[in-house]
Amino acid sequence: MSDSARLSAPSALRNREPILDALRPHLPTTGLVLEVASGTGEHVAHFGAALPSLDWQPTDLGSERRASVDSWASDLPNIRPAIELDATAPNWPVGHADAVLCINMVHIAPWVATQGLVAGAARILPPGGLLALYGPYRRAGQAMEPGNAAFDADLRQRNPGWGLRLLEDVAAVSSAAGFGPPGVTPMPSNNLLLVFRRL
Ligand SMILES: C[S@@+](CC[C@H](N)C(=O)[O-])C[C@H]1O[C@@H](n2cnc3c(N)ncnc32)[C@H](O)[C@@H]1O
Repeated sequence: MSDSARLSAPSALRNREPILDALRPHLPTTGLVLEVASGTGEHVAHFGAALPSLDWQPTDLGSERRASVDSWASDLPNIRPAIELDATAPNWPVGHADAVLCINMVHIAPWVATQGLVAGAARILPPGGLLALYGPYRRAGQAMEPGNAAFDADLRQRNPGWGLRLLEDVAAVSSAAGFGPPGVTPMPSNNLLLVFRRL
């Protein structure tokens, strides 16, 4: 895979180390981590290099992004070739994972993508399995930070189906699908890491 396939996202380069630090204590030591919406692949390449005892399955909807993922991960034997995965699909191309990770999709996709993500994770995770979501969220009864409010307005202008989600709504969907309540870790730039366990 040539380096020319590599896409880069400044945000991924900024947040990959803080996400790794916050995620590390929650991950199993061995097993398969499925990443939904891998984007450029800079996250999974960073995590795969830092945590070589885990196997990583990156995915994305777009072929250009999957080629970028494969290019960033080309030297890492514990990262599988990226595959196409639509979170809303009733059947996912991976039947089992020990953890499911999704960074910055929930607010930049229609709500059905979050519903599909949670349903799919519930199908493939064992009891105790981890669903980890990273991104900005709203909280019921709390005003958004000015930066998040501006981001939310921009997203909704670009696509009325996008926008920051209420943490309480994501927790309700997850609870209905068989997950426990979220562990919430505050992250830089008013983001959160949400950690759910399959019951
Ligand atoms: C803002 S990008 C985030 C990419 C990467 N995780 C990051 O943080 O740099 C949003 C991603 O959501 C993906 N996406 C949107 N709808 C999706 C769906 N229904 N199933 C899977 N991925 C989806 C897009 O393909 C895109 O890669």
